[in-house]
Amino acid sequence: MNNEYDAIVLGGGGAGLMCAAVAGQAGKRVLVIDHADEVGKKILISGGGRCNFTNIGAVPERYISANPHFAKSAMGRYSARDFIELVEKHGIAYHEKTLGQLFCDGSAKAIVAMLLDECEAGGVTISLERGIGEIGHADGRYSVAYGDQTASAPALVIATGGPSIPKMGATDYAYGLARRFGMSIVEPRPALVPLTLGGDETLFRDISGVAADVKARCGKTAFREAALFTHRGLSGPAILQVSSYWRNGQPVGIDFLPDAPAGWLVAAKRVRPRSFLRNQLAAVLPDRLADMLWQRIGLYGDLNSMTDAVLGDVERMLSDWQFVPNGSEGYAKAEVTVGGISTDGLSSRTMEAKKVPGLYAIGEAVDVTGWLGGYNFQWAWASGWAAGAAI
Ligand code: FDA
Repeated sequence: MNNEYDAIVLGGGGAGLMCAAVAGQAGKRVLVIDHADEVGKKILISGGGRCNFTNIGAVPERYISANPHFAKSAMGRYSARDFIELVEKHGIAYHEKTLGQLFCDGSAKAIVAMLLDECEAGGVTISLERGIGEIGHADGRYSVAYGDQTASAPALVIATGGPSIPKMGATDYAYGLARRFGMSIVEPRPALVPLTLGGDETLFRDISGVAADVKARCGKTAFREAALFTHRGLSGPAILQVSSYWRNGQPVGIDFLPDAPAGWLVAAKRVRPRSFLRNQLAAVLPDRLADMLWQRIGLYGDLNSMTDAVLGDVERMLSDWQFVPNGSEGYAKAEVTVGGISTDGLSSRTMEAKKVPGLYAIGEAVDVTGWLGGYNFQWAWASGWAAGAAI
């Protein structure tokens, strides 16, 4: 059997399959190696089984990276519009759910089937259920042992993703391999992940299951979406979003009433001086949350018994309630990994290692992480396309 290829792609997730299909359709002989029993497992479970496959607002500013400019080139050359065209070409029905997030009307399986069709059109060979063994590099060629075989090619693509959700076969393999070739790693950490609360804040466990539309903030970055109280702490889209920016020890601020105009409590006092703070809160927040906040504020008299200054303080408290998470739920629950293979060593146009010709890194393995809402797949498609076109 001829085991010589033009490119070997390690990892058959979204990025690896896109790269393989593009290179294959350009006439390259491509081998994809994945240790899983099927390709695209994260695609299959994404978006509640409907795959939020892109976001029409996927601009580079909505990505986190030590080099915020890195994603511009690949994302400019392969945009959300390009992926939507591919989806439409394959007759996959889709809809916008919210905030530019595009989901399949049916199952995420359609996206995997589409990528496999594209790979087939490019004559791509896919090897599953065989781990990656020894990797060699000599005379401008890479050799990769897998199972009882060895393949070789002048191009090797690292597309094994990040360590989020290890029970699905996710590993940090990419980092070790990149280091071996002299590339550096931006410290990885779990992202798009629920945050945990300890100490006094565990009292909020009593309202586990309650969700509210809030503005959550970490440092200068804020997201207006739902937050959810859980048995362990805080979750929901607003919290997942800020978790990607959060560092140990930092507070997360929550504006429980993002639509309330300044002075609303003082105005309420003028209209209903005998009403209680609790009732004012319950009128605009879920009942159990209103109760918890009221108890924590600890002002039990009617509004008339409170000065305007005190009510102003309460408003400020409610608009920037400070939680200091004691951690996150870690890689077991993280949708993605922030950090990864440093972009310093990569060409932003082709994803090729600047100092190791023929070596490429794409997708989540690289230090580019998107917001929640289809942004991470768009990076997988764009970076995979850039490498596939360059091979
Ligand atoms: P990905 O992890 O998809 O693929 C890597 C491949 O490499 C896998 O097939 C794996 O088996 C293989 N592999 C890993 N280590 C290996 C090794 N040592 N040897 C051989 N093979 C190895 N994003 C989004 O935009 N919209 C969404 O709706 C969601 N939803 C979502 C839900 C959940 C629960 C999770 C966990 C994640 C999401 N995401 C998402 C994020 C998205 O899934 C993620 O960013 C992309 O899958 C990354 O694509 P990659 O191809 O880079 O890695």
